[in-house]
Amino acid sequence: MNFLPGKRVLLGVTGGIAAYKSAELTRLLVKAGADVRVVMTDGAKAFVTPLTYQALSGNPVHHELLDETAEAGMGHIELAKWADRILIAPASANFIARLRQGMASDLLSTLCLASSAPILVAPAMNQQMWSNAQTQENVASLEQRGIHILGPDIGDQACGDFGAGRMLEPADLLQHLNLSFSSQLLGGLNVMITAGPTREAIDAVRFISNRSSGKMGFAIASAAREAGANVTLVTGPVSLQTPEGITRINVETAEQMGQCVLDQLADQHILIGSAAVADYVPSNSFQGKLKKSSQQLSIELTPTLDIMREVGGMTDRPFTVGFAAETDNIKTYAQEKRRSKNMDMIAANQVGVPESGFEVDTNSLDIYWANGEQHLALAHKTKIARQLVEVISRQYRENQGDNA
Ligand code: PMT
Repeated sequence: MNFLPGKRVLLGVTGGIAAYKSAELTRLLVKAGADVRVVMTDGAKAFVTPLTYQALSGNPVHHELLDETAEAGMGHIELAKWADRILIAPASANFIARLRQGMASDLLSTLCLASSAPILVAPAMNQQMWSNAQTQENVASLEQRGIHILGPDIGDQACGDFGAGRMLEPADLLQHLNLSFSSQLLGGLNVMITAGPTREAIDAVRFISNRSSGKMGFAIASAAREAGANVTLVTGPVSLQTPEGITRINVETAEQMGQCVLDQLADQHILIGSAAVADYVPSNSFQGKLKKSSQQLSIELTPTLDIMREVGGMTDRPFTVGFAAETDNIKTYAQEKRRSKNMDMIAANQVGVPESGFEVDTNSLDIYWANGEQHLALAHKTKIARQLVEVISRQYRENQGDNA
């Protein structure tokens, strides 16, 4: 099935002899119905002229980051937001290294940083450069971050060598790109996700909160959107950009978060509670700023509404997926939490360690449901979120089958 009609594909071409094959790729993409914008690096222009891609894509080719005329038309941020997918073919060793470093040194690398669209990379280089430990490390790091690496092929190379490093054929790349649109695991479903911390006021300037950055919840929101869901993201105060195509609702307190979730629950098929909601709120928030004194100060705390427990207790409720942040006894505590809050699934992560849980970019999860469990090994939160969405969609469908 062809999923490409109307899809907005940003084709990045970097410096390499395989750039000539991307002219054919552009033609195939346009023929398949995709709207194609080509972005070239300086290196790419040494191999093929922008005019070739302009003629084949039917759109102006972008290559300058600081170009007044281009910025007056479709500027780089607009272009980054426009894309449904970014396909970089060919991707040189140099570009892969810059992508890994998060450089914004030219238009294409800047677009990759500024876009929330999935990125697919088709490496093309000499076999020795491909097998070099540094390149392999760069590629592994990109994969960890959820970037899809396509190929390379093994065979004769333009330089006379034989080995791995040839760019995949345009028809194969077209197929990979098409497939990336086919995984509509949550197609048409309404998914609500809570993310970030909540803040509970002590006085006008102080509050109780926690270390949640929102990264896990925002990654799940992107992954669910990528999988075709209509996503509502209810988030506490975080400094993250809203992923494209997502409805974001900002809240501050546990009470506001609970109210917001409950107000919109009727329309939701799935609720994923990744927020670190405060368990207690100061019983009396002081008006104005509390004055410092030499006396001891006690603050009385009242339990907040447990949102997931409240939802779990409803007869007509969405499929619920909670999170458990644990320092030890993860399996026992997580399963107990799932059962006591009557949630369909729970994703447990270890907190208080450097590589997972709060604030960091990576995580690993142990997911439990009534009659099964799955471990997701340590990876970038983007990748973990995609894997979690796959598990949720499988269990959701199974659950629907059971309830049909
Ligand atoms: O935001 P990051 O920096 O990326 O960090 C991610 C994370 C560690 C915050 C996330 O992966 C995570 O574990 N979130 C849940 C944290 C938590 O509050 O866990 P808990 O074990 O205290 O709560 C269990 C479940 O009940 C959670 O789904 C929670 O959202 C929910 N809950 C808790 C309290 C409350 N009043 N209402 C709730 O709904």
